Amino acid sequence: MRKLHLGVLGSGSGSNYQALHDAITRGDLDAEIVMVMSDIPQARILERAREHGAPHAVIDCRGFASKFPSESQAEVALTMQEAKVDLICLAGFMRLIKSPLLDAFPQRVINIHPSLLPAFPGLKAWEQALDAKVAETGCTVHYVDEGMDTGPIILQHRVPVWPTDSYSSLHQRIQEAEHQLYPQAILQLRMKMDGPYEA
Ligand code: GAR
Repeated sequence: MRKLHLGVLGSGSGSNYQALHDAITRGDLDAEIVMVMSDIPQARILERAREHGAPHAVIDCRGFASKFPSESQAEVALTMQEAKVDLICLAGFMRLIKSPLLDAFPQRVINIHPSLLPAFPGLKAWEQALDAKVAETGCTVHYVDEGMDTGPIILQHRVPVWPTDSYSSLHQRIQEAEHQLYPQAILQLRMKMDGPYEA
């Protein structure tokens, strides 16, 4: 069986991308990151990809601040197909993915989100959790559909909320859990995958 080819999409720091890279380097995840793309040209995730020598590219979103135009999604799909990506991993990608990309990678786009979905979808889920005064929150890896942080759940990790938590302390604890969870979830998917992944 050949290595699973991962494509990563991110808009920010890329710490989850880094966690995938590190899991592969340690030998914990039999995969290769063959393409990293961002809608933000100056995003740290692209710098990390450059440092790792990983193929990377900027997505041209036609000047839209938050929309992800169909033409841009089709271009991402083509780039990912040309890179022979098996699985697209969203890692802090902040635009909604729709049919052009989802159709090109059916059941092959996954996301990580910093809450126990379906609780607290959307932005700054750790702030939502602290404001809601819940005793625990966590993180979720799920398949992507056309909704915001919806789609079948693959794996979750619970994280306690302490009475002394600030937004940043809780965010940090959730991110540490995310960095463990994402490689684990991909490993779990890898076990189930067949067809295109056979050599
Ligand atoms: C992560 O916490 C991820 O769960 C979140 O963005 C952060 C990206 O951090 N994603 C969402 O909120 C998706 N709705 P990173 O760039 O350091 O990986």
